[in-house]
Amino acid sequence: MRLKDKVAIVTGAGRGLGKGIALKLAEEGAKVVIADMNLAEDVVSEITEKGQTASCIKVNVADQAEVAAMVQFAADTYGTLDIMVNNAGINRDGMLHKMPKENWDTVIAVDLTGTFYGTQEALKYMRTKNYGRIINISSGSWLGNIGQANYAAAKAGVVGLTKTAARENAKKGITCNAICPGFIETDMTLKLKEVNDGAAWESMMQRIPMGYAGKPSDVGNMVAFLASDEAAYITSEVINVGGGMIV
Ligand SMILES: NC(=O)c1ccc[n+]([C@@H]2O[C@H](COP(=O)([O-])OP(=O)(O)OC[C@H]3O[C@@H](n4cnc5c(N)ncnc54)[C@H](O)[C@@H]3O)[C@@H](O)[C@H]2O)c1
Repeated sequence: MRLKDKVAIVTGAGRGLGKGIALKLAEEGAKVVIADMNLAEDVVSEITEKGQTASCIKVNVADQAEVAAMVQFAADTYGTLDIMVNNAGINRDGMLHKMPKENWDTVIAVDLTGTFYGTQEALKYMRTKNYGRIINISSGSWLGNIGQANYAAAKAGVVGLTKTAARENAKKGITCNAICPGFIETDMTLKLKEVNDGAAWESMMQRIPMGYAGKPSDVGNMVAFLASDEAAYITSEVINVGGGMIV
């Protein structure tokens, strides 16, 4: 119960990694706002059935007014906001020389600008109480990955944004760190199983030194640590959770 009575928002928590993060934070005692494009009442039920606390709100992270309303919702519902996890993200993969501008714009709007809104709105609140934990979900792809120019640029932007937010707010009791997941089993990645009769998935497994895809809980464990008092002196870091895949 490292996060007893802390209040957290997790964006994109309707499924996948965000859901894994939300379940872990709730298990550690946090009251969790499940924020997603789709109202995730099923995730709330899964948490509350265990006697833990959660509620949900529908939000598009690419809309600043909706993100501001989400922060207000957490404060109105649970009295404060301690932990902000900017996890919502999408991909629209394709080779750069053929990439439609629309696919660039959409990914930047959600993955980078959405994280900017989430970080900025959380900071406005956290700076008033001199406490906060901001955790941004980047990706190992920030280092560059074939077919992911838009996604890599957005996720590299998240690293720069995170490091700057960390430095600007260090004296305000607010930490800001980024996590780079490697290859985690979620709807985003499971579609690879359909490519070349599963051969693409198998080839991906061979690129992971541990030989298997991570689970959302693997990332949830790192988020819970960074959100806890144990990580009070850790800020401006970029931490890989990738089974040795990210070098
Ligand atoms: N799965 C991986 O291997 C992996 C690896 C590295 C980084 N990531 C990052 O982790 C995060 C979560 O990925 P995932 O694999 O769980 O994806 P996913 O597609 O399984 O789930 C994404 C969730 O975000 C929500 N969402 C999408 N756009 C949104 C928006 N504009 N506003 C609010 N919610 C929105 C979706 O409704 C969905 O519930 C993303 O930022 C992704 O880039 C994932």
